[in-house]
Formats: sequence, C-alpha cells, structure tokens
Amino acid sequence: MKLIKQFDIILLLLWYPVIYPNDTLFPSLIIDQNIRVNYTPTVLVYAIDNKDVQKAVKCAVELKRDIVSRSGGHSYEKYGLGGRNNVIVLDLTFVNGITINSEMETAKIGARNRLGNVYNQLNQAGFLIPAGLCPSIGIGGHALGGRKYGLACDSMEIVDAKGEILQVDSILNADLYFALRGAGGGSYGIVTYFVFRIHRTPPQVTYMELAFNRANMTQEYQLFDAFNEVGPLHDDGIALKMRLNKSSLSITGLYLSPRTETLNAMKEFLSKVPEPISIPKFIPQTFYESFETLSKSPNKYEVVNPVHHPNFFKAKSFVVKGKGLTRQAIKVLVDFLNGASCKILASFDLFGGAANVYDSSSSFIHRDALYCIQMESDWEAKDQNTKCTDEINEFGKNFQLNFTSDESYQDFIDRNLDDWQTRYYGNIFGKLVKIKRKYVIQLSSKYPCTGLEKFRYRIIMKYSQL
Ligand SMILES: Cc1cc2nc3c(=O)[nH]c(=O)nc-3n(C[C@H](O)[C@H](O)[C@H](O)COP(=O)(O)OP(=O)(O)OC[C@H]3O[C@@H](n4cnc5c(N)ncnc54)[C@H](O)[C@@H]3O)c2cc1C
Ligand SMILES: *[C@@H]1O[C@H](CO)[C@@H](O)[C@H](O)[C@H]1NC(C)=O
Ligand SMILES: *[C@@H]1O[C@H](CO)[C@@H](O)[C@H](O)[C@H]1NC(C)=O
Ligand SMILES: *[C@@H]1O[C@H](CO)[C@@H](O)[C@H](O)[C@H]1NC(C)=O
Ligand SMILES: *[C@@H]1O[C@H](CO)[C@@H](O)[C@H](O)[C@H]1NC(C)=O
Repeated sequence: MKLIKQFDIILLLLWYPVIYPNDTLFPSLIIDQNIRVNYTPTVLVYAIDNKDVQKAVKCAVELKRDIVSRSGGHSYEKYGLGGRNNVIVLDLTFVNGITINSEMETAKIGARNRLGNVYNQLNQAGFLIPAGLCPSIGIGGHALGGRKYGLACDSMEIVDAKGEILQVDSILNADLYFALRGAGGGSYGIVTYFVFRIHRTPPQVTYMELAFNRANMTQEYQLFDAFNEVGPLHDDGIALKMRLNKSSLSITGLYLSPRTETLNAMKEFLSKVPEPISIPKFIPQTFYESFETLSKSPNKYEVVNPVHHPNFFKAKSFVVKGKGLTRQAIKVLVDFLNGASCKILASFDLFGGAANVYDSSSSFIHRDALYCIQMESDWEAKDQNTKCTDEINEFGKNFQLNFTSDESYQDFIDRNLDDWQTRYYGNIFGKLVKIKRKYVIQLSSKYPCTGLEKFRYRIIMKYSQL
C-alpha cells in the first residue's frame, strides 16, 4: 500500500481546504486504517478552527447534505467517512492544538490529535492520560466512545447541528455531556476540543511480557484460571492484556510502579500461571517508553508522527462478566482459532479500577465487567473480504449467545452486530435517543421537511437511529 507523503499533503490542504473527488489527492485522503470497506464522500473539507466547523455545518444544512467528522480515521466501519457514500466529510486534521495547564492538571486537546502526539506532548510536561495503545487513533472518536480506564474528560466544545458552539460539562448541557461520554462518536455534533484531567507521570513504570505454551490445553486453561481469578484483584495501576491466536499465547502488561513493587504485586498471579516458554520480562521504563513498546510501532518517529497502516480487517467485541470464560467457552474459542481459514487474534483486556466505578454522568455502560475481548480477523486481499467477514461474524454471534454477556464495546464498532442498541448502550438507549432529539432532530422544525427527508439534517453518521 502506497504511503501518503503527509508533509506535502498538509501544505496543499492549507491552501485548498476543500477537496473534491476529481482532485488527484482525493483517493489517498480517503484511505484510512481499514480498507475492507471504503466510501466516497461528496467532498472533504479541512477545518482549522471552530469557525470553519460552523461554516461547514451550516452549509451542509443549507445543502441538505449529511455531514460527518473525521478525527483519526480509525473507525472499524469507516464511520469517519460517514459509513456510506456521498456525505460531506469534515476532517479535523488541523484542529490539533494541545494546551497544558500544569497547575490545574488539565489539558485542552484539539479533537484531531492522534494518541501518539498526545502522549508525547503530555510526557514532555510530565503528565499522562490513560488511553488506548495505537498511536494513530484520533482522540476525537476515541474519547467519545468512552473509556474503560476512566479517561476523564471534564468539558468539551461542540459544534451542534445548527452550527452553533456549545460548551458542554457536568453543569452546562449536562445531558449532552452524559451522552457524549460513551455514545458521542458521530452522533450529537462535532466536538472540536476536549479538556481532560491529566495525571503526573510516575518516575518509573514496569513493562511486562510473558509467553506461554499455546499447544498444551491444560496449560492454557491454567493461564485463563489465573487471569480470571487473580486478574481482577490487582489494583488500578496494573493493566493486563492477554493475546491468543493460532500459534501464540501471551500476556503483556504495565504497572505504574517500579520493578520490585511490580514483582511483588504480581506474585500471586505469577504463582498460578503455567510455566512460561521464555524468561518473563519485567522491564523498568518511563511511562512514555512503555507506550512506545506497547504501541508496537516500527520506530520511535512513528509514535509521534503516526501514520495509518491500512489493512483488511473485521473485528468483534465481547464483554465478559462474572467469573470469566468457562472451560467449554475456551475450548470452543481455541478450536475456532485452530480451524479458522483467516488469521484471527483474540485479545483480552482486563477491566477493573475506574472502569467498574459506576458514573452517572457517562453513557459508557460496561461497568461490572471482568474483561473485554476483541477478536480481529486480518487478511491480505479484497477477494477474501466475504469469506473472512462471514467466518468471524458467524462465530461471534454464537459465541456471544452461548458464552459471554450481551454487551459489546462501541469503540470497536461492528456493523453486523444485531441488537446493537442494547449491546452498546444497555437500558440507557432510550435516554440517548431523547437527548439526540433535543439537540439534533429539533432542526426539522426550523427547516420543515417531510418523511425521510427530515433525517437529512441529522449530524449522525453511525447507526442511523441514535
Ligand atoms: C489499529 C487500532 C487499534 C485500536 N486500539 C484501541 C485501543 O487500544 N483501545 C480502544 O479503546 N480503542 C482502540 N481502537 C478503537 C478506536 O478507539 C476507535 O475506532 C475510535 O472511534 C477511533 O477514533 P478516530 O477519531 O481515530 O476515528 P474516526 O474514524 O475519525 O471517528 C470514529 C467515529 O467518531 C466520530 N468522530 C470522530 N471525531 C469526532 C468529533 N470530533 N466529534 C464527534 N464525532 C467524531 C466519527 O464520525 C466516527 O463515527 C483501535 C482502533 C484501531 C483501528
Ligand atoms: C471538480 O469538482 C468540483 C465539484 O463538482 C467542481 O466545482 C470543479 O470545477 C471540478 N474541477 C475540475 C478540474 O474538474
Ligand atoms: C501439558 O501441561 C501439563 C501441565 O503442565 C503437563 O502435565 C502435560 O504433560 C503437558 N502435556 C503435554 C502433551 O506436553
Ligand atoms: C500469532 O501472534 C504472534 C505474536 O503476535 C504472531 O507473531 C503470529 O504471526 C500470529 N500467528 C497467526 C497465525 O496469526
Ligand atoms: C452455540 O449456540 C449455537 C446457536 O444457538 C448452537 O447451535 C451451538 O451448538 C452452540 N455451541 C456450543 C458449543 O455451545
């Protein structure tokens, strides 16, 4: 896949912020992370500030076109391009400021910053936020999906469906604040800035890596037992991820403490896991170094200047509660991975800490969870799209029905998911719709229209009904 020469493009876009499909640049600008699906927007508009965003929204309303915003372009179903053809895509590439207030311990972050830039800039000031691991994810789509480790967003600036700027926090437009934090991606308006609470980086953290025998089922069960039983007992400072595919079984982790304390905190877990197949790694690092390691970037430069690595993939997510997967479920999963015709990886993110603290001002509902499983199928060429997508869809449906909770994680968005309303938003879905009506659909009275036409004024891109 041809890599885009980002620097050239940025210069050009500053001169020509509106790019039509007949432009030679256009094709490269609509390639994002996932190339299994793609859509052709009517036009790409590059905004620099709130004013540009307002202008674009007002135009869209006048032209009766749907408008969608793209931050990092990481949506699994390309909702950053609208999830269908012929919408106006407002790209936030240049809404990328970061202002750190060390005293207040907050950072005002433009929606399009990629996680790599965010970690890097905060690190230089001695701070961190707990967020995802992939450097090229946009903070926009990411934060609006809600976060399991309690990514705390104190306030936001949003351009609403009328093109007006709203301040959103726990007091001002509190219902919108609730909706945006969990169900916000593409649904309620365009968030241009976030104010996050930031945390001082500890002087040292410990990166962990353990590899296990994938061929021995007894040992596999043993590892799951340890993960299920001891995992949740760890304190908030520990993040653990288990990865399982056809040929490998491993755990990576991070503890926000020095090595000795980490070994101590991990003692019980380590006493229960099967014999590792290589010497376990407990590497003392700075927080930023650990992000570099965990991000699996090809080099340090790319962590700060992230680019997409376009590939064909389809992902499912499962929220597991109670005591974790049963042996039968593990067996079914392992058999599937062994026999699958496409390359599939299952990753288990241990929840805990802030994730499980109920927060009535957030629409992130996956609270009493043990872990979230992401299953991702990857393949090499378009002609495998149908086969690989069908394979994982079919498995996912039965696996969820038989072995996991009904919930799925909205940031791993999945267009083939049935009953997504309750899987993503549980019993608050109705409330989310009401809030949406209040802030978005009310436009139809200002611009009267009938039938389906009415919905053309919405600023909503993902899953039409919300
Ligand atoms: C390789 C990879 C690794 C990932 N790793 C993790 C991980 O470790 N942890 C995790 O939790 N998630 C992870 N994700 C998922 C990621 O958090 C979501 O896909 C997220 O929605 C991406 O945000 P984005 O801004 O990059 O995407 P975009 O495609 O730009 O946007 C996603 C959605 O949000 C909307 N949106 C974007 N910006 C705004 C805005 N400013 N205002 C309103 N709506 C907006 C879009 O319209 C779209 O519907 C990963 C994704 C990929 C592809
Ligand atoms: C490209 O398309 C736009 C919008 O349809 C049009 O205004 C413009 O004239 C076209 N440019 C060229 C060179 O054809
Ligand atoms: C699998 O692991 C168990 C427990 O460590 C061990 O007793 C058993 O011999 C192993 N089986 C094989 C086939 O190596
Ligand atoms: C399984 O994962 C390992 C480690 O990430 C990777 O090296 C290997 O290629 C993967 N194998 C398959 C079949 O996906
Ligand atoms: C899972 O559920 C499906 C559909 O209900 C069923 O056909 C299948 O046999 C179940 N599999 C297992 C291993 O329980």
